[in-house]
Amino acid sequence: MKKVWQECIECHSTYYADIIKYRCDCGGLLEVRMDLESLGDVSWDKFRSRKFNVWRYFELLPFEGYNRVVSLDEGGTPLYKCEKLADWLGARDLYVKYEGMNPTGSFKDRGMCIGITKALKLGAKGVACASTGNTAASLAAYSAKAGIPCIVMVPKQAVALGKLFQAMLYGAKVVRLEGTFDEALNLVWKVAEEVGAYLLNSINPWRLEGQKTVAFETVDQLGRVPGYVALPVGNCGNIAAAWKGFREMEAVGLINERPSMVGIQSEGASPFVDLVKEGLATLKPVEKPSTIASAIRIGRPVNWKKALLAVKESDGLVAKVSDNEIIEAQRMLASLEGIGVEPAAAASVAGVKKLIESGDMDANDTIVCICTGSMLKDPSPELIKGLESIDVMPNPELVRNLFAYLLSRRS
Ligand code: F0G
Repeated sequence: MKKVWQECIECHSTYYADIIKYRCDCGGLLEVRMDLESLGDVSWDKFRSRKFNVWRYFELLPFEGYNRVVSLDEGGTPLYKCEKLADWLGARDLYVKYEGMNPTGSFKDRGMCIGITKALKLGAKGVACASTGNTAASLAAYSAKAGIPCIVMVPKQAVALGKLFQAMLYGAKVVRLEGTFDEALNLVWKVAEEVGAYLLNSINPWRLEGQKTVAFETVDQLGRVPGYVALPVGNCGNIAAAWKGFREMEAVGLINERPSMVGIQSEGASPFVDLVKEGLATLKPVEKPSTIASAIRIGRPVNWKKALLAVKESDGLVAKVSDNEIIEAQRMLASLEGIGVEPAAAASVAGVKKLIESGDMDANDTIVCICTGSMLKDPSPELIKGLESIDVMPNPELVRNLFAYLLSRRS
């Protein structure tokens, strides 16, 4: 039997695994903990004999029986070696872990399979979340699969169309709030507890248990531990989850090195980066966060203390990037490597470029950028602006000349 419990990252109070709790009584964030001795035999050979998805690492996930899990075959995403992008960035050994290949097109699916499985186990009558879009889309899909009611709240006019469409099509009840993501999370959290819906934002420690598998897969695919792992940061959950994955692999002897965790935010929504850079004692929220990367348009990240530990313990780095730098990175990633990501996901690449240019990041080390979501999520006009397409009449001569001209052009 695996021994699993919930533990406060601050006062270390413990709670049973099957108690619904999103914060410790002291107010601290909770983490799912496992007695590593109780996990049974853990080895790469064993893992690699299984299908490549989140569940390959079952011993390191906080469940007993595999037969009752809710899954859409999440994880198992590609890790691309990107030589042309590396030249552009000035890096030597660069990889992109493309999380857009998950079932709903973002990394959230890694966490939702665990979150929804947990919701069913706890007998929840429904699930809920606040979201900048991807969490909503993912929760909606997994609730559909599980047959459990789902309510998602998104900030009105601030969610990419693709994500909104996903949530509605998967059958979630979509509530649009006249307000920010931070306000939505506050409200949903409060109300969900009152009406008995299970909250599946990243404050829920079970979700991060699924998200930590991105670290397992990265090492599994690379065959070693990279020097840096760069991620976009919004509510600060994913960087903490990935770091937990590395810590656990080290604790069970699967690796004996650690990467530096690199957190990237947008200039208009950078409370976490400012906290680290300025060495503040506590987070200074951004009241009106603004960035083209709507997924990480977050001013009051709830998991900042976990993310801070990740950056500190891993001797990590942070950087903030402008909207123009994000768009440039998105276009370079797509046009040089054929990898199409949404703006938030491109932030990790833009941030690495910046950190190499400033000399803060060792360009000779191995760098993995986690690109968290697909380009298809967000076809906003401002992202399409400046990209080229040509209109033509159905005249063969005209089309022939046009094609000949286009082939003669170098770019
Ligand atoms: N990248 C993408 C594409 C995201 O959707 C998010 C978060 C992040 C990065 C940041 O991850 O919050 O764990 O630091 N999206 C959430 C949502 C907030 O509602 O979809 P984080």
